[in-house]
Amino acid sequence: MPPEPLRILAVSGSLRARSYTCMALEIAMRGAADAGAATEVYDLREHPLPFCDAREAEDTLPPEVHVLRAKALAAHGLLVGTPEYHGSYSGVIKNALDLLSFDELGGKMVGLVAVSGGASGASALSHLRLVMRAVHAWVVPQQVMVPYASKAFDEQGRARDPALEKRLLDLGREVVKFARIHAAAEPPPA
Ligand SMILES: Cc1cc2nc3c(=O)[nH]c(=O)nc-3n(C[C@H](O)[C@H](O)[C@H](O)COP(=O)(O)O)c2cc1C
Repeated sequence: MPPEPLRILAVSGSLRARSYTCMALEIAMRGAADAGAATEVYDLREHPLPFCDAREAEDTLPPEVHVLRAKALAAHGLLVGTPEYHGSYSGVIKNALDLLSFDELGGKMVGLVAVSGGASGASALSHLRLVMRAVHAWVVPQQVMVPYASKAFDEQGRARDPALEKRLLDLGREVVKFARIHAAAEPPPA
């Protein structure tokens, strides 16, 4: 039997209807699929999460949290996107990550995307990298900023600049490449 494909999960920290972050992640996920991964977007617009309140009675959390945890646990890698909000990542993505833990994120390969209205999403990317280190995830060195986001995509959600499209595709491929190396080095217990 052929080996199961690696699983890559995408989560976006924007709840906006025509979110550019979601568009960027869709392209990065195509790159991951090109590299042979099974891809899935967990869209927080369709599956709203409660605020993390660190409750002890986890069985009282709504199903969306358990589904996100199960999908993150099963994934070999994640593509995480955020809009730049006030010089950092969005509360939506931080809350989603706070609802996860070392159990789901530790040892996972991660690619980061930040989308900004202005010239730079660099702060959001750097801040997210710190968060990922704290949960022992592996963030690939490549990352993608989408500046001046309102001009970056066409009506179909395609990147107007082929160089941006390539960077996003490459990010998805890179996460799969390193997830594959990592999975080969640490096979699951028999
Ligand atoms: C609360 C808030 C704060 C923002 N702060 C910044 C910022 O600091 N720098 C910036 O370039 N754009 C900022 N923006 C603009 C967003 O980054 C931009 O609209 C982006 O496209 C949003 O991503 P989305 O399309 O995925 O929702 C802000 C937008 C909001 C709603």
